[in-house]
Amino acid sequence: MASFDILVTGGTQPDGTVKDIGIAGDRIAAMGDLTGAEAGTVIDATGDLVSPPFVDPHFHMDATLSYGTPRINASGTLLEGIALWGELKQIATVEEMVERALAYCDWAVSMGLLAVRSHVDTCDDDLKGVEALLHVREVVKPYLDLQLVAFPQDGFYRDPTARANTLRALDMGVDVVGGIPHFERTMSDGAASVRELCEIAAERGLLVDLHCDETDDPLSRHIETLAYETQRLGLQGRVAGSHLTSMHSMDNYYVSKLLPLMAEAQVAAIPNPLINITLQGRHDTYPKRRGLTRVKEMQSYGISVGWGQDCVRDPWYSLGTADMLDVAFMGLHVAQMTAPEEMQRCFQMVTEENAKIMHLDDYGLAPGKQASLVVLDAGSAIEALRLRPDRLCVISKGQVVSQQARNDARLTLPGRPDSVRRRHKIAEG
Ligand code: FE2
Repeated sequence: MASFDILVTGGTQPDGTVKDIGIAGDRIAAMGDLTGAEAGTVIDATGDLVSPPFVDPHFHMDATLSYGTPRINASGTLLEGIALWGELKQIATVEEMVERALAYCDWAVSMGLLAVRSHVDTCDDDLKGVEALLHVREVVKPYLDLQLVAFPQDGFYRDPTARANTLRALDMGVDVVGGIPHFERTMSDGAASVRELCEIAAERGLLVDLHCDETDDPLSRHIETLAYETQRLGLQGRVAGSHLTSMHSMDNYYVSKLLPLMAEAQVAAIPNPLINITLQGRHDTYPKRRGLTRVKEMQSYGISVGWGQDCVRDPWYSLGTADMLDVAFMGLHVAQMTAPEEMQRCFQMVTEENAKIMHLDDYGLAPGKQASLVVLDAGSAIEALRLRPDRLCVISKGQVVSQQARNDARLTLPGRPDSVRRRHKIAEG
């Protein structure tokens, strides 16, 4: 008789199939009908969704949970957020950054978010954020995969010491090359930064993830250079453009040329819907642009698109709970991905698609893969998007790391049921 450390029984996977999952050590040992198997711990997931963990490919862990310090962003714009962060990073200490980041990782784990790509600001001669997050990366390693991007927030060329400090951060062990071409002094400086940053990544064998064209200016076309350099340097499949909001405002004819070039270079896109819908269009009166990039259009060309969270309680965004379902829910609405297969895709974008963009090779619900999963109080992936429900159980690398009791509302209505869970099977696609 088969024996496991943990057995998760009867759960419905995002593709709708029902399978038991047997876990031995930190591996998924078996999947299927495991009736009769023994286990040290049995998690009954009958009727619940069992998903691979949530993955966030775009976050700022050095700034998270700092909202209101030293003041709030009164205009709500990206540029005031950058200025505010400039004030905050002068007074922040390594210890305080570590404390905030670890508190955020607790939130993430409780939400079944077990892999995060965080940008870390390299425009600081003391590299306090880099020191803090390299430490945090090691502390959380047993339960959360933290991938760090060297991010010259004030401009790789525009800030006088950013270039040297970004290279130093990479020498210290930061994983991915970042940048912000639209924030350089000129379009040509932006293009030059894309070129050099891609060359650095090619030389060092690293991935690239640039904040790219996070502006409403339709002439911000650094994504074109990013696709070109990706192809020139043989970096296909290793490069992502985050935000790409200018594409929202670009001329349709130009986009019809751009998207095949992105597809050819296998450049991934990481829109951040909670933030893009909040920060973009702030200079517009009416009609007011949404600012989210062209998600469905890119997908129709085979371009990989993942939803990122970007911010939680920081100079740019006052809300957030580390829930990637909130991110997908907003993205679904703003990109109008309302058909059943599009909603299903939105769930994949915060799980499998993001894992692919981050090159998480040990990810997924399959025998032999790392035993990480989340049990949600929902009957399907689409229902999870609608309910954004409690995470009943989170397993990371073979360990139960978070559990939450089912929390049905209790009704006191004459002639009606005494509790309600807001599940609804009929409407499922
Ligand atoms: Fe960002």
